[in-house]
Amino acid sequence: MTLLLSPDDAGIARAADLLRQGELVAFPTETVYGLGGDARSDRAVAGIFAAKGRPSFNPLIVHLPDLAAAEAIAQIGPQARDLAAAFWPGPLTLVLPLRADAGISPLVSAGLPTVAIRVPTHPLAQRLLRAFGGPVAAPSANPSGRVSPTRAEHVLDGLSGRIAAVLDGGPCAVGLESTIILADPDPILLRPGGLPVEALEAALGASLAIGGAADRPNAPGQLASHYAPEAGVRLNATHAQGDEVLVGFGPVKGALTLSETGDLVEAAARLFQTLRDADRLAGPGGRIAFAPIPETGLGRAINDRLRRAAAPRD
Ligand code: TXA
Ligand code: MG
Repeated sequence: MTLLLSPDDAGIARAADLLRQGELVAFPTETVYGLGGDARSDRAVAGIFAAKGRPSFNPLIVHLPDLAAAEAIAQIGPQARDLAAAFWPGPLTLVLPLRADAGISPLVSAGLPTVAIRVPTHPLAQRLLRAFGGPVAAPSANPSGRVSPTRAEHVLDGLSGRIAAVLDGGPCAVGLESTIILADPDPILLRPGGLPVEALEAALGASLAIGGAADRPNAPGQLASHYAPEAGVRLNATHAQGDEVLVGFGPVKGALTLSETGDLVEAAARLFQTLRDADRLAGPGGRIAFAPIPETGLGRAINDRLRRAAAPRD
């Protein structure tokens, strides 16, 4: 059975113990809940792939408490260092050259010479990482291809009975996965996410090339159909057609809304919960329509997730 751990010293100590035993523990970050396992343990990392039903060629993100811990695992180039100084802890993942002596299971990086590292700012994530004292591999804590979890209940909905525990930290503040960047030698955006591209470009003083295209599906976030609810999804809708559940934004009113005032930060925080709510309202064989979202700030990541939710399924 999956334990629901409370967000106090006892819950964190229990979660850290379970990680030490090679067990899987879901924990809150400011972006989404992660499904954590000891990144040094082949058994734990293989367990993450098995629990999610994730194709094993998709590499995982390693979670660490700070830059010093990251330096033991990866080489931090000049631009990566600037970005880490500006945005860690926070919703930014850097893809970096993996150190030969890092001790990370090769399953984490799927055999690549690079490793994705993230330093979350969520206080419970920070406390858990420090209590555990080692690198934690953690994809989003949902079955592969489904909507990412932004509450402990979402984790249990998808993975109950398949993982040891969930540390309950309530709803995630950002609500979208981290932005992934290859910083050096040339900055490339691999996944839009909870840190807006505009903020990264301002810090770099340069524009970001767009990478991680659909022709390089080395991760679920890069497969066309992902974040998929049960219902079919239509985008850029201003009215519901037939019995569609319309999800509004700003002036477009619907049965639900991502943000009545057209606030992209609020819309990001509510996106995955709203996908779940709309799915429930639509019912079996139902359809969801989403109002247009501007392609600026967090809107870029919201639209990325919505396009994947709407992509043809296999
Ligand atoms: O916000 C987040 O990033 C959440 C929380 C839990 O931290 N985690 C997350 O992990 O979204 P996941 O596994 O769902 O997404 C991992 C992404 C994949 O899209 C993959 O492309 C990228 O990380 N990735 C990991 N290692 C990589 C590498 N060496 N090179 C390029 N991309 C990599
Ligand atoms: Mg994911």
